[in-house]
Amino acid sequence: MRLIADANKFGLVAFMAAVLMMAAVASAEEDVIAIRQADMKAMAAAAKTISGMFKDSTTYKATEFKWAADTIRDRSGGVLSAHFASAADSRQSKAGPNILKERDRFDRIASDLRDYAVALDAAAQKNPGPMPASMRMRPGEAMGGGPFGTHVRNEHELSAMPAEHAFHLMLQTCTTCHTRFRME
Ligand code: HEC
Repeated sequence: MRLIADANKFGLVAFMAAVLMMAAVASAEEDVIAIRQADMKAMAAAAKTISGMFKDSTTYKATEFKWAADTIRDRSGGVLSAHFASAADSRQSKAGPNILKERDRFDRIASDLRDYAVALDAAAQKNPGPMPASMRMRPGEAMGGGPFGTHVRNEHELSAMPAEHAFHLMLQTCTTCHTRFRME
């Protein structure tokens, strides 16, 4: 009798442990979703800060510009990719199911985003004073990444383009990824 009671107790404990573990997995998944959505919101706020300084260059402050660029840099690339590592089957998420199938493309866009953020950080470091004309797009400058889309072709090309141009290409990586990988 005693043995059976113990066995039952063990069974119950094992069952409870399994339930708890499943709950932990589910909440870890929801944590990742909450974190990546918060990261996206932080990047959107940072992009708005930078956009405001290009709209009115007298509001440019190198430290704030750099901080905003770093906010995006630190949430893109591998960090962003890792937040979408498994199929999150959650109603709270708008992540497309095609992310896992098109992993390379997703990761490349995330990495392009980081490259642009790094270029913007460098521009802020190079221009601690007022925003120089060299940071602005030249009138008539071709927008977009040409036939290759928004993909960063090489570092030299990126550092040679005005920061404002890099910024616009960066915003296109946001849109490109959302169009393909975010569900409405
Ligand atoms: C490589 C792909 C990718 C890139 C690049 C990307 N996003 Fe996202 N973004 C997503 C996905 C996927 C979601 C949906 C996430 C979810 O709901 O789990 C999302 C969601 C969002 C959201 C909604 C967050 C919420 O609260 O639900 C905002 C805002 C956002 N992104 C802004 C941006 C901005 C701004 C950029 C560029 C600076 C950017 N994203 C770049 C893939 C990307």
